[in-house]
Amino acid sequence: MLILGLETSCDETGVALFDSSEGLLADALHSQVAMHADYGGVVPELASRDHIRRLIPLTQYALQSAQRKLSDIDAIAFTEGPGLGGALLTGAGLAAGLGLVLRKPLIPVHHLEGHLLSPLMSGERPAPPYVALLVSGGHTQIMLVSGVGQYELLGETIDDAAGEAFDKSASLLGLGYPGGPALSRLAERGNPDRHPLPRPMLRSGDLNFSFSGLKTAVVTLVRQRRSEREHLDEQDKADIAASFQAAVVEVLTAKCLIALKETGAKTLVVAGGVGANASLRYRLRTDTKAIDCKVMFPPPNLCTDNGAMIGHAAALRWEAGIANIRNADDGFDIRPNWPLGG
Ligand code: KG4
Ligand code: ZN
Repeated sequence: MLILGLETSCDETGVALFDSSEGLLADALHSQVAMHADYGGVVPELASRDHIRRLIPLTQYALQSAQRKLSDIDAIAFTEGPGLGGALLTGAGLAAGLGLVLRKPLIPVHHLEGHLLSPLMSGERPAPPYVALLVSGGHTQIMLVSGVGQYELLGETIDDAAGEAFDKSASLLGLGYPGGPALSRLAERGNPDRHPLPRPMLRSGDLNFSFSGLKTAVVTLVRQRRSEREHLDEQDKADIAASFQAAVVEVLTAKCLIALKETGAKTLVVAGGVGANASLRYRLRTDTKAIDCKVMFPPPNLCTDNGAMIGHAAALRWEAGIANIRNADDGFDIRPNWPLGG
């Protein structure tokens, strides 16, 4: 069964062809990061306009690279939510149009389910149950994955996402958008113990996170340093970056370890852009090993938003007989605030 997967929930246009027996045949992606960088964050209206422009060329590219025709497609999967309303509409609209013309069914997919199941597409597959840490610019969640369609939310951020905190702190240090990678590079030269920043909710007794207070602590620190001297020098910035990163890494790692212990799962899977952070990777590797568990980092192209994970999640749901199959004649919907399991 050949599934076209469309992802347009935020600032990446992803189009993929996933075959239930042959696996991933094509994965075309366009990132809008450069376009939004001038504005210091994602501009929803620009995101939608760009998705519209990219979807058809990317679909053609995916078909060509997989050497398949439109008529070979058996179903069209698209991200129904959560995400930016206008952006979701572009993928849902193309899915419905193709469904009408090809007379093929639509499979709406939950974006986070795409992320949660994406490790099952990589070479080394985790065996459920596994704990998944989703850390991106938009989400910070710890979930227990017991099987396809079986997810338990163990904890999540009550305010900013971890990536958002990286981006906002990076912006305060003048590092551009999205600043996570630049901040983590700068942190390599800094002293993580120079500024004892708060470890929000480290001992909250649950698996939730909060990062907005940490960002405020960075604001205060930057202001304080600036009042003491006119300009922050490179070492000042590096020390603040390292201190901030150490706080985020410590809280994320501690909660993941608690989740592993509480659930008895032996594997932790990390998805989302912040999963690329070298310090987080190192800490998770050493700390999970110490409790006889293992951590897996799917390849970067599967960690960030992509169409492959949408086609893949749809295929797994279809095989398990739990796909929410829709007829394009009935129109389509989007669910910008769709809770997982809701
Ligand atoms: O999953 P992702 O690519 O996209 C969405 O959020 O949709 O995640 C992007 C986020 C951004 O906030 C970016 O700053 C952060 O991941 N990020 C990092 C690193 N690489 C990307 N944060 C910390 N360290 C990194 N090396
Ligand atoms: Zn995502």
